[in-house]
Amino acid sequence: MRSAPQAHDLFQTAFGDLPAILASAPGRIEVLGNHTDYNHGLVLSCAAGARTAAAVSTAADGRVVGVSANLAGGRRTFAVAEAEEPGAPGDWANYLRGLVAALRRRGVEVPGLRIAVATRLPLAAGLSSSAALTTSVLVALDRLLTLGLDRQEMARIGQEAEGRGVGVRCGLLDPLTCLFGTEGHLLLTDFEDLSRATLPMPDGLVFVLADSGVRHDLRVEYNERRLSCEAAARAIAEKRPEVRSLRQVGLADLAALNGAVPERVRRRARHVIAENERVRRAVDCLRAADSSGLGQLLLDSHRSSRADFENSCPELDRLVDFGAADPRCFGARLSGAGFGGVTIHLVEAGLASAYAADLGDRIEAAAGRRPWTAVCRPGAGARLEDLAAGLERDPDQQDETAS
Ligand code: GLA
Repeated sequence: MRSAPQAHDLFQTAFGDLPAILASAPGRIEVLGNHTDYNHGLVLSCAAGARTAAAVSTAADGRVVGVSANLAGGRRTFAVAEAEEPGAPGDWANYLRGLVAALRRRGVEVPGLRIAVATRLPLAAGLSSSAALTTSVLVALDRLLTLGLDRQEMARIGQEAEGRGVGVRCGLLDPLTCLFGTEGHLLLTDFEDLSRATLPMPDGLVFVLADSGVRHDLRVEYNERRLSCEAAARAIAEKRPEVRSLRQVGLADLAALNGAVPERVRRRARHVIAENERVRRAVDCLRAADSSGLGQLLLDSHRSSRADFENSCPELDRLVDFGAADPRCFGARLSGAGFGGVTIHLVEAGLASAYAADLGDRIEAAAGRRPWTAVCRPGAGARLEDLAAGLERDPDQQDETAS
């Protein structure tokens, strides 16, 4: 079932009433530009086909009650006035707390809420299920409470909720992609000024997603990578005071880091700087319909993750190595924070299902466990769902085939 009717049904079952608003948001696929967002760099991304939906109403009792079809644990309740207080570690309701707290900090008088969520996304797999959750709820609340938020502000609220929800100092990539993703298109974002452009997904190409099955607590590694990048930028700024982030830095500047920072920090910076350059070249490949060139950039990105940023792992490498050796695949890489989660494989549409099945067979034979795979075209961004349409139950809905 699509996530929207599922959230709608769940709301009715849990609260004995109909929701006032139904909204949904996609997962995000990071196509190229790894750990560049918080370094004010460039990213190519797109919305995934699979979505999360939120059915929402107000309540008079000043409490937020959340129920979920797929997230661990049952009903979650907290008082609006206590949204700032930390919830149990790892609890999905922390994202709801984070959202309510972020809205209150902006002067919104948040009433009691009833929220039912359902998702078709694999969780914590690098497809940004958390941003899909926060942005679907936020789009619903924006309409429910007539907030008139612009989508850039929504992305900042989502980022705040995420930082609070899991303690990861993530950038704006995930909520921005969930909010601005466009069906059939890749999104190019410049995180220096948040300007965006859309580029058509090349005809006849799709992404095959394959989950490594590895789940990693990102709080330590992700935040450490971010600190390393900031330290590298600061060290370069000592010689070039105009430098504010790694965005103003080229490969030639890396020499300034020799002896100034640990070698590992220099390699982290090299990854980020090279990723920005790869995104620029990927845009050229997209304009020239050069699928092989684009695929090679994905492989180069993964190699750089593996050697320089050290955010890959053997399970991710195995999936990417399969893609590198298979002529049906133009290129593959880890996608998202790394340390586990999914890989993306750029594959010809007509060959994608067979490719995904063979990949599954190969990994199952080697590791004894069949990976989750999906064939995915860029989907649509976050949107309000027609409540009546939410009741349609067409299992083959085009926009959620990636689940
Ligand atoms: C996670 C973060 C994003 C981004 C990516 C890596 O998905 O939430 O902000 O930093 O990792 O590119």
